[in-house]
Amino acid sequence: MKKLIVLSGAGISAESGIRTFRDMGGLWEEYDVTEVASPMAWENNRDLVLKFYNERRKQLYEVEPNCGHMGLAELENDYDVEIITQNVDDLHERAGSSKVLHLHGELKKVRSTGDPSLIYELKGWELKEGDKCEKGYQLRPHIVWFGEAVPAIEDAIPIMQSADILVIIGTSLNVYPAAGLLQYTSRDIPVYLIDPNEVVPPSSNIISLKMGAGKGVKELKKLLMEKMNNEQ
Ligand code: APR
Repeated sequence: MKKLIVLSGAGISAESGIRTFRDMGGLWEEYDVTEVASPMAWENNRDLVLKFYNERRKQLYEVEPNCGHMGLAELENDYDVEIITQNVDDLHERAGSSKVLHLHGELKKVRSTGDPSLIYELKGWELKEGDKCEKGYQLRPHIVWFGEAVPAIEDAIPIMQSADILVIIGTSLNVYPAAGLLQYTSRDIPVYLIDPNEVVPPSSNIISLKMGAGKGVKELKKLLMEKMNNEQ
């Protein structure tokens, strides 16, 4: 089976009702990233950081995967699909995707501030001051904050290198090292880019589907089917 690699961002969850970061009305319009998503924020205004992630975690229990997530999961019938996501929601998994690598952490997980190897699934949506790990250290969101390393990038590189087909969906490609992953695919593979906005300048090997995730994944599946039939 051909390796189909997906690089996804907040846009794929937009149609599930989860706000993106940099669109009109995005999260970063309302919050200053340095006040809610950085180690300094955790030191200086922990309650606001806890509230920011508790609100997003609470919402995650109220939303469902959309047909964009579902369509990508269904591609596993015909391709060896691996998803590299910048998203911290679990909608790819809940849609049925079996291989999902979270570059920026996971909203439903928390980890020890004293021993980062201690990572737990949070029961319920609320993490509070005083919630501690088994060694007695305060628990924090298991999220990569601005200014922190992205350990999962080491695992993402070989996945990108293995791609026969690349699908980029719902990301403005503003944030590194995630956006830098594009350099690791070979030049001659087809790249499908699903986004209602123009994220990268048109180029020969990029097939741009300028539409939302739901419609875009449907169109992608049609194009892939046509391609597969032509190759037979
Ligand atoms: N379907 C597909 N794409 C969409 C949709 C939709 N319905 N709505 C918006 N988009 C696109 C936007 O055009 C934009 O290109 O999704 C992209 C969202 O970009 P960002 O808000 O920048 O989100 P993302 O690229 O995932 O941000 C990367 O930045 O703040 C950090 O850690 C955070 O993981 C995040 C990272």
